[in-house]
Amino acid sequence: MENSVAKVLIVNGPNLNLLGKREPDIYGDRSLGDLNQKLADLAKELKIELEFFQSNSEGSIVDYIQTAGFDADGMIINPGALSHSSYALRDVITAVGVDTIEVHLSNIYGREEFRRQSVIAPVCCGHLAGFGFYGYAMALSYFADISEGG
Ligand code: DQA
Repeated sequence: MENSVAKVLIVNGPNLNLLGKREPDIYGDRSLGDLNQKLADLAKELKIELEFFQSNSEGSIVDYIQTAGFDADGMIINPGALSHSSYALRDVITAVGVDTIEVHLSNIYGREEFRRQSVIAPVCCGHLAGFGFYGYAMALSYFADISEGG
């Protein structure tokens, strides 16, 4: 993107393509397309270049991060249920060394026991849970801030 100061990857994992249809009482009634549009609008203001990726497959997400991660300044990832189990995802974040913020729409700490642990969190620079779409926007603002030396 012309005049952009940083490139940030927006990665969504399994079942996040169903946003708007899936358990709207927990995840809201807006779609992944709505989320991406909101982030694209914000990124334009912040002069950040974004790349969007969603997959239901762990291997595809690992492949994508291997390919795109080395050239990115940051990554915002909602790994969905992979957060609670995927050492492969954790390893690829470490392998490419991209600054990563883990985001969850819901407050995973107030839900079922198995959701309260993230195996990804220890290799991320930050973690946001429970703020819905706004969590992604906060993460994006953080990357804009640090890319300007903040
Ligand atoms: C989620 C929380 C996960 O536990 C769940 O498996 C998801 C969505 C969230 O955004 O709140 O798929 O990552």
